[in-house]
Amino acid sequence: MAKAINIIQPDDWHLHLRDGALLQSVLPESTRHFNRALIMPNLVPPVVNSQDAIAYKQRILNVMPEGAKFEPKMTFYLTEDTDPKDLTSAFESGLITSVKLYPVGATTNSESGVKNFDNVHNILERMTEIGCPLCVHGEVTDEDVDIFDREAVFIERILDPIRQKFPNLKIVLEHITTINGVEYVKSAEHNLAATITAHHLFLNRNHIFIGGIRPHYYCLPIAKREKHRLALREAATSGNKKFFLGTDSAPHLDTLKETACGCAGCFTASNTMALLAQVFEDENKLNKLEGFTSRHGASFYNVPPNTGRLTLIKTDEPVSFPKNLTTAAGNVTIFAPNQAIYWRVSDNTT
Ligand code: NCD
Ligand code: ZN
Repeated sequence: MAKAINIIQPDDWHLHLRDGALLQSVLPESTRHFNRALIMPNLVPPVVNSQDAIAYKQRILNVMPEGAKFEPKMTFYLTEDTDPKDLTSAFESGLITSVKLYPVGATTNSESGVKNFDNVHNILERMTEIGCPLCVHGEVTDEDVDIFDREAVFIERILDPIRQKFPNLKIVLEHITTINGVEYVKSAEHNLAATITAHHLFLNRNHIFIGGIRPHYYCLPIAKREKHRLALREAATSGNKKFFLGTDSAPHLDTLKETACGCAGCFTASNTMALLAQVFEDENKLNKLEGFTSRHGASFYNVPPNTGRLTLIKTDEPVSFPKNLTTAAGNVTIFAPNQAIYWRVSDNTT
């Protein structure tokens, strides 16, 4: 039976586009379905000031596929040396949409992140004054904290004190992976939201090890126990405006993932929308998909919903997605979900 749904064109509120050859090849995978994306600043070296953001945005625009209307929304990478004046003019001129906080060493390219949170209080104060949102990679990095507990401990030790001190600062807890994250965000009265990825709606921590180690299911924050995955599915499909899509699509060359010390990140830009349609259908919540992908994030970031539309079509046979994307620098594996998907994005999407 043919079945299709038509939704407002989605946005991706957490995307890694990289640079150079990789940027050129992965960008069309996002522009095909998404109208806007929040571009993560964790390049090497990171995007830390206006000059960097202007240059990076230009490099993205330079390789924009013909006819694409995609708008990259830029971010600064918060460091202990971030200049509040530069940040203010970048935010007020519309150059940046938010500032990203990485605890030092938390994930890929986070060596320039924040060590001592007291040292960024003056910056957070300024961001509160000007209404600039803070996007947070919510994991502590202390070696004595178990990798599966790092999000919960971050909320308790770092995020909650920041929120107490700056109750008017708008914060996004990025790519949440735990029931603790879900509950914490639900309990906040205002100024707190969370992004959720597609892959965390599919994977629990067992999936990383089924039949052997699966480097393409390794990302940070790492997938957690099944009860956490179920809580994320409930939150994403609930219609609660505090939860919205940030794919965290994070391409790495296969040679850097399939190795003795592989990089973290799942490359999901190509098939996220099909994957989400499956999740929302399985949860009997297809009517909540548009809110999650196309309304809640726009509302949090104070931008109007997109005017374009996207159609998803139910298929009779499982969809077979391409296995990888070829780039001038090498192959990048596309996230292969651990279940059959019966949805695809229509080619006639506008
Ligand atoms: C991201 C990357 O590769 O840049 N990796 C990941 O596993 N998600 C960084 C990040 O968002 O943590
Ligand atoms: Zn990310």
